[in-house]
Amino acid sequence: MSNILEKLEHILVPMALKYVPEQSEPKAVVHQWAHAIANNLPLFGNSQELDNSAIIKILENNNLYKSKTSFHHNLTSHLPITPPKKAIFTFIDLFAGIGGMRIGAQNNGGVCVFSSEFEKNAQQTYLDNHGELPFGDITKIPVDAIPSHDVLFAGFPCQPFSHAGLKQGIEDTRGTLFHNIAEILSVKKPKVAVLENVKGLISHDKGYTLQVILKTLVDMGYSCNIPKSIILNGSSKELQAEAKKMVLKSIDFGVPQNRQRIYIVLWLDGLIDFFHYPVPLGVTTCVGDILEADPDPKYTISDKLWAGHQRRKIQNKKDGKGFGYGCVTPDSPYTNTISARYYKDGSEILIEQENYNPRKVTHREAARLQGFPDTFSIHASSVQAYKQFGNSVSTPVISCLVKEIYHQILEVSNELT
Ligand SMILES: C[S@@+](CC[C@H](N)C(=O)[O-])C[C@H]1O[C@@H](n2cnc3c(N)ncnc32)[C@H](O)[C@@H]1O
Repeated sequence: MSNILEKLEHILVPMALKYVPEQSEPKAVVHQWAHAIANNLPLFGNSQELDNSAIIKILENNNLYKSKTSFHHNLTSHLPITPPKKAIFTFIDLFAGIGGMRIGAQNNGGVCVFSSEFEKNAQQTYLDNHGELPFGDITKIPVDAIPSHDVLFAGFPCQPFSHAGLKQGIEDTRGTLFHNIAEILSVKKPKVAVLENVKGLISHDKGYTLQVILKTLVDMGYSCNIPKSIILNGSSKELQAEAKKMVLKSIDFGVPQNRQRIYIVLWLDGLIDFFHYPVPLGVTTCVGDILEADPDPKYTISDKLWAGHQRRKIQNKKDGKGFGYGCVTPDSPYTNTISARYYKDGSEILIEQENYNPRKVTHREAARLQGFPDTFSIHASSVQAYKQFGNSVSTPVISCLVKEIYHQILEVSNELT
């Protein structure tokens, strides 16, 4: 960890203690304050007694602050992933994982004002790369304490809703993580929300889950590309057909991976009429682009594992159950989707090798397969590294999506205000 963060923690933790939510670390508050000071943005805590100048005074007295520019430099210049020097817009990073969304947002001038991720290993990778320990469990964060922001990002777990009926809007979603997202949106009213999920969300619970999500948000004053008449009264077939248009493929944005995810872009009613999703870049992808020159032999799978994969493939074919493992060569245009279970046996993506058994992708190749830059610091545990990249987003997709969000929604709304 950087020297400056340690010094800041030493000085600010006692003051931060009363703002620490249950199941979050005091460091999370201190790190949020540091980045907020460096960007002249609001502090987590939203209290009358808390303001940036009071903290700056304390830092000045401890020789840790001379100017905003030098403080920003000291806080961020050593980071593997450097944030923008100046905020073009602000965002919060929920269910943050290792910050894949954050990278895409930062590439477009976004500055993060709050992050939440409760898994300790992902928190560590996030801290190592972004210089900020995320807050913990989002269900324990007081919504008022979250600073205002322009964009909310959330790649949240897909959970079913009760079928008791859609009567009370947001109250019907209680007990799910979507409820916490909806609460933040209803109180903080960011201009834009980006909800990322597996494509299966569209058909989850026969379309009911998606309908509850969209109806709740529409009731709260948000719009998306699906007409309100379809969200409120359309058939689930119509809703699902519209939702499919929100699916983006990683291969269309230069990543040699067959990953498809739904990206629900929502905006405050009236800001725009329709959002044009980014169009495919038209680049040809190739697995060779992400391969390392001289991978360690430890990634080659054992004879036992290889025999098991081959046996299962034959059995699956007999049972009509798909194809089993997926082998590619450097010339293949793309790999299968990397999943959080890749560490177990690597079955979805194996690289063919001459005279040897196939190999798994290396940790760095897994990072590249999601578009993470080579400066990204990878978790020391092999299991965690694969899990984290498998759980992540493809950062180039987010970069292209946020570019459109900025030009079509944020820039236009700035002109309006
Ligand atoms: C699909 S991953 C999102 C990954 C992220 N978008 C990225 O690019 O790395 C969902 C994350 O939500 C986190 N999570 C689930 N429930 C949570 C909660 N109650 N509070 C905070 N984080 C939570 C999980 O630990 C997991 O890392």
